[in-house]
Amino acid sequence: MTKIIDGKAISAQIKNELKEEVAKSGLKATLAVIQVGKDPASSVYVGNKKKACEYIGVGSASYELPEETKQEELLKLIDDLNADDSINGILVQLPLPDYIDEKTVINRISPSKDVDGFHPESVGNLCIGQEGFVSCTPAGIIELIKRSGISIEGKECVVIGRSNIVGKPMALLLLANNGTVTVCHSRTKDLKEICKRADILVVAIGRPRMITAEYVKEGATVIDVGIHRTDDGKLCGDVDFDNVKDIAGAITPVPGGVGPMTIAMLMVNLIKAAKLVK
Ligand code: GUN
Repeated sequence: MTKIIDGKAISAQIKNELKEEVAKSGLKATLAVIQVGKDPASSVYVGNKKKACEYIGVGSASYELPEETKQEELLKLIDDLNADDSINGILVQLPLPDYIDEKTVINRISPSKDVDGFHPESVGNLCIGQEGFVSCTPAGIIELIKRSGISIEGKECVVIGRSNIVGKPMALLLLANNGTVTVCHSRTKDLKEICKRADILVVAIGRPRMITAEYVKEGATVIDVGIHRTDDGKLCGDVDFDNVKDIAGAITPVPGGVGPMTIAMLMVNLIKAAKLVK
């Protein structure tokens, strides 16, 4: 029987663990959440991040900046929040408007408050196996795999996608957990053959239902990072779930798989940041 990995349940478990820890320890923490403009999808994500803070018993401070905000103003706000001892984590919701340089903004966040794990210092720490903040989606995927009782050590792991937010940190995390890791991308030749070798296949390509049973080894763990709205208004992932579910040993659904984990891991990072200053 294929195991359906329940990201909603696992993320709820993590948030409950944090809620209990906060209640018991009396730890205080506040997340600063910055949104530039009013992109509706970003507003939903930002709202959910603030709700998660409330749920686990920590604070959030919201900065909703107008679309026409100048880069310098955003950088000044980040400087102020970096210097503010009452703020433990700073999150700038992406994407930013075109005229603002994402790299400059990310680099300005103090590495000690980088709860998204996007700062080059955080990425560098991950790369050389030092303690630091890890990008939330790939960190959440590791939790999904481990809490489902699946071991990574010695496994053939294939990651499709090489973005800074998912693919690259995912590969580094699987490697840190002693997996044998291959990273594939849009120029990869023989994608099917490489995927077919995987014991653990992480798919972050951004193309609806592209991965079918032909790409999957019998019994493999299949993790789907994609989320798309189909013409009939339903949500689907990068993996053709119905086609793959009988061949996979374990698989994440969309919705309810990887998605809910990102915010749970953001809360893990926020608590970690608060402990740094305790
Ligand atoms: N936009 C989409 N995903 C994310 C995320 O994990 N963090 C931030 N800051 N922006 C995002």
